[in-house]
Amino acid sequence: MSAGGHPAATGTTTALPTGGADAAGVPWPSTARRRDDGELEVGGVGVGDLAAEHGTPAYVLDEADFRARARAYRQAFEAAFEQVGAGVDVYYAGKALLTVAVARWAAQEGLRVDTASGGELAVALRAGVPGAAIGLHGNNKSDEEILAALDAGVGRIIVDSRVEIDRVAGLAAARGVVAPVMLRVTTGVHAGGHEYISTAHEDQKFGLSVTAGDDDGTSPALAALEAIVARPELELLGIHSHIGSQILDPSGFEAAARVVLRLRADLAERTGVVVEEVDLGGGYGIAYLPTDEALEPAPVARDVAEAVAAVCTELSMPLPRFSIEPGRAIVGPAGITLYTVGTVKPVTVSGSSADDETFTRLYVSVDGGMSDNIRPALYGADYHAELVGRSSDAAKVLARVVGKHCESGDIVVHEVVLPSDVRAGDLLAVAATGAYGRSMASNYNALTRPPVVAAADGASRVLVRRETVEDLLALDLG
Ligand code: LLP
Repeated sequence: MSAGGHPAATGTTTALPTGGADAAGVPWPSTARRRDDGELEVGGVGVGDLAAEHGTPAYVLDEADFRARARAYRQAFEAAFEQVGAGVDVYYAGKALLTVAVARWAAQEGLRVDTASGGELAVALRAGVPGAAIGLHGNNKSDEEILAALDAGVGRIIVDSRVEIDRVAGLAAARGVVAPVMLRVTTGVHAGGHEYISTAHEDQKFGLSVTAGDDDGTSPALAALEAIVARPELELLGIHSHIGSQILDPSGFEAAARVVLRLRADLAERTGVVVEEVDLGGGYGIAYLPTDEALEPAPVARDVAEAVAAVCTELSMPLPRFSIEPGRAIVGPAGITLYTVGTVKPVTVSGSSADDETFTRLYVSVDGGMSDNIRPALYGADYHAELVGRSSDAAKVLARVVGKHCESGDIVVHEVVLPSDVRAGDLLAVAATGAYGRSMASNYNALTRPPVVAAADGASRVLVRRETVEDLLALDLG
């Protein structure tokens, strides 16, 4: 199914595209290639040309890779759920990276678009994504955001609290419409990294708990669902659960699905209402380092579909329509950040104890940093970097790639080996920066945010232009 009014791509490949031809397993985008002289190309465009035309730093997106990942997720889930007789929608989570072109690519590949603010909603609408194919999330939506969603006829507003039930109902009544809503619940399953933990307590801002309950066993989630059912201004589409991000152990999805399906059965028992949809959110993990393995969608989809079917049989409930919201898994590996090397400085690091050896770390400064990728500073995230403008036979040395900001935590890559002849003017690329790089970028130190450039079929084009100092000054009213 195509959500964007464009024909969906055909074909049945459900495997992810493999990283560009790189024996070391670096998670470059799938069209990345090393030319004979060592220069990297993406989408058939050499990084030298990309840097000359667009400057650095620059986010470079491999359009074919993005599209292939979007297709792989859609087809894997469609195939798995078709096996058990249920329908599926895949929403691209725009928070990972949303531009007008990116929203269009997602829609053209048959994905819907999940937005988390009025701004993201506006980008999706500007792209021509039909309102019906858009979802709106947020734990603190403003009236303006809710009204914008209602006016756009969004397919679903994911309600996040009891007070929001009244607010959305009130605004829908004011507009004379019935608002299609899902309820976001917390299942007690939290995942991210290699394991998931299941806890009885919820101490975070999202959703309503399925596990906590009052004396008669009514959970906040069940009570909220009943409250929605009682409001004629609201149409209860289903139940939503997002368990975490960068998940590599998929068993958490099944665990969450079980909890949500039981809640759905409890609601049916109490009210006779069988909600049609269940959304399990995003969180599908990707490879950041050559040693990482990404989650493949096909086996996850199969396991989740089978678990959903089994639980529904056990509970004597009809199958729901199912949806997911991957963001990182679609756009993360499709993007690289291209930098130019500046200052290179060897730093002697003495051991913290008498037994520790003293060693030298080469600090390689690039022309961006924590303003274009906050993830290393914020989460301690690891990335892989390489020189991409040339090859080098020089010995490899332990290096740290750092930015140009005025703080020591401004690290781009904590640890990587680079050729010892790395020097000012070299092009350096960091792999797998497509997700949560540009979307979390800042203007720290009044740096201007880099452009988003798409490369495909031997040509590049600017999707979002580079900010200029004039842009920054234009906001400053003096
Ligand atoms: N759906 C909901 C309701 C979400 O809250 C999120 C992410 C997603 C979908 C998409 O998750 P993904 O498939 O991209 O993991 N800034 C962090 C990630 C925060 C994710 C928040 N919610 C990072 O850079 O790792």
